[in-house]
Amino acid sequence: MAEDDFDQLLLEIRDGFASLPDKPEETPESILKALWMMAAGEAKSAELAVHCELPKLSTPAQDHLQDLIGAWRTGTPLAHLTGRQNFCGMELLAGPDALIPRKETEILATAALDLIARCQTEHPVIIDVCTGCGNLALLYASRFPRALVYGADLSEAAVALATRNGEFTGLADRVEFRQGNLLEPFADGQFDQRVDVLSCNPPYISSKKVSLMPEEISGHEPAMAFDGGGFGISILQKLITEAVRYIRPGGYLVFELGLGQGPSIIKKMERNDRYSHVQGRDDEQGNVRTIVARIAP
Ligand SMILES: C[S@@+](CC[C@H](N)C(=O)[O-])C[C@H]1O[C@@H](n2cnc3c(N)ncnc32)[C@H](O)[C@@H]1O
Repeated sequence: MAEDDFDQLLLEIRDGFASLPDKPEETPESILKALWMMAAGEAKSAELAVHCELPKLSTPAQDHLQDLIGAWRTGTPLAHLTGRQNFCGMELLAGPDALIPRKETEILATAALDLIARCQTEHPVIIDVCTGCGNLALLYASRFPRALVYGADLSEAAVALATRNGEFTGLADRVEFRQGNLLEPFADGQFDQRVDVLSCNPPYISSKKVSLMPEEISGHEPAMAFDGGGFGISILQKLITEAVRYIRPGGYLVFELGLGQGPSIIKKMERNDRYSHVQGRDDEQGNVRTIVARIAP
């Protein structure tokens, strides 16, 4: 298979292509290149594949490519077909066991990295709950080798994928993953008032809306990763209440939230005297997508 074939397949993929707002890196070209590389036996995320020189495909590899394109057309997420997703420049394993990390979460990642950089302690203690495939916890460990990083998730399958990602990225000995409900895995007392930065990308979609999400999401990614209860904010509220036990005075809670949830959550936290300097971080459209809150000294 050569250049002409690529152009023909690209036309076919463009036909009827609908971009997903939370996966802007997936364009017809990056999708086809990622599937082509996969058919050639090289697993790459869309973000990396788009820059690759494409190898020639053998006849069996061409058949494999057709199968991959077929599966993508019928709604299987690209990251499940390649087994890869890129997050903040870090290539990770992806699969049905946990949410595929989204570009929008880079707002939370950037805010958390800034906070960790400001920590005065030699070995800052960082916890990431609702860690999913471990993307945030592993990113913190990769950028701050002296930090003591922990990640946790309620889903055993997600924790297993995060653990595999620790090995895949070579960071297995720098992040400890635990399983349990929100902060319960850290409730043995040793983390009380010791955490410098607590980060979280919780489920924040209302239960009713989860089943109405595009088939590529609702049919393939775990509902537990999205479902934030009746109004979408039950886990967020639990986090805001429980985090104060763990974060040291002057430390930070930083979390992602859904479109439209920012203003009311900021007001609520400003009324809570355990928090000070509550700030929103916006996306390019001016929507608050991450909140940074300091624990009152
Ligand atoms: C939106 S996903 C975030 C995954 C990952 N941190 C990311 O940024 O891509 C939310 C995660 O929260 C987990 N989760 C849901 N309810 C939870 C709970 N009560 N305690 C801990 N984790 C929970 C889900 O399993 C899922 O992995």
